[in-house]
Amino acid sequence: LTITPFIANLPKVELHIHIEGTLTPALRWELAHRNAIPLPYPTFEDLQASYAVTLNHRPELNGRQPGIPTFLEAYFAGCEVLRTEADFYDLAMAYFHRCVDLKVRYTEPFFDIQAHTRRGVPAQAVLNGYLRAQQDAIALGVHSRWIFCFLRDEPVSAGLDAYRTARPWATVEGGKGLFHAVGLASNAYERPPMLFEEGFRLARADGLHVTMHCDFGQKDTQAHVAEAIYKVCGGLGAERIDHGLDAEEELWAGLVERGIGLTLCPHAYHRRTATEVLFPKIRRLWERGVQMCFNSDDPTLMHDVWIDGNMQKVYSYCGFSRGEMVQFVRNAVDMSWAEEDVKKAIY
Ligand code: ADE
Ligand code: ZN
Repeated sequence: LTITPFIANLPKVELHIHIEGTLTPALRWELAHRNAIPLPYPTFEDLQASYAVTLNHRPELNGRQPGIPTFLEAYFAGCEVLRTEADFYDLAMAYFHRCVDLKVRYTEPFFDIQAHTRRGVPAQAVLNGYLRAQQDAIALGVHSRWIFCFLRDEPVSAGLDAYRTARPWATVEGGKGLFHAVGLASNAYERPPMLFEEGFRLARADGLHVTMHCDFGQKDTQAHVAEAIYKVCGGLGAERIDHGLDAEEELWAGLVERGIGLTLCPHAYHRRTATEVLFPKIRRLWERGVQMCFNSDDPTLMHDVWIDGNMQKVYSYCGFSRGEMVQFVRNAVDMSWAEEDVKKAIY
């Protein structure tokens, strides 16, 4: 996939990226040595080669696929090397430096605090590392507000505890301003959004925004999208949906009427969907007036395809014009929850 100068030079806004999904093999190798954590790969080349395969979601196996690791197993295995505040800072700063190269001016990264606290890492190490990076990135010209994710395959009570712990780092009265929204990530298998209703209500009561993953091509995705549009947050619905691409036609009107945009990650779907199926589908949704923007999800676990590669794919395969591609960036600004001065600066 060749990135054309037009796509490379376009200023960008990213609304769907998991910070832990930006951990490069190089940084993972470095942190493993820094923290004396053994990796199941004897050499760096072996580690690097493990990223070349296509890792699929196998939700029906709930992360227990014999042989090759499922996508989420690989994702959480990568997290093992992250231990100290400096590790989280380095992870985030590496991403922000990548943003400079990619011309990402504003980003709303997801973070999975439970992926770390359940391994015994103090919440403060995670939150302070990310907070310091958020502040230092401004000097690089990269602004960010982050999204706290509930791990939906963990007990709801564990998510609520994690939220309460993280709350002083939110954009609440007197808070530190790291994150301004909550999301829902990890394995969606038999874990519909409404299970986390209490978490969404807590977040809304705190003045935070609410989004949630409704993964592409998973069991019950339709039902999950319907809950996200009509049921969560006391019937108000989510403000955005992450993926949501295979919402059936009867749900499109709901997305449009309620102004719920989709944060799409074309390369993630393209790994397991034919070009002639996927890109016309994206185009059809767009023509029906569903708001959308294009993002990278977990770039280092998805063949190192970042936001530029994702935008290039829709530019090349959907037949969008240059003007339409610029409009997609404006859509991302509109769909973002950036403060007005930041929005103005990007527009
Ligand atoms: N958490 C991190 N990456 C994810 C993905 N692609 N789907 C669901 N949960 C995730
Ligand atoms: Zn995602």
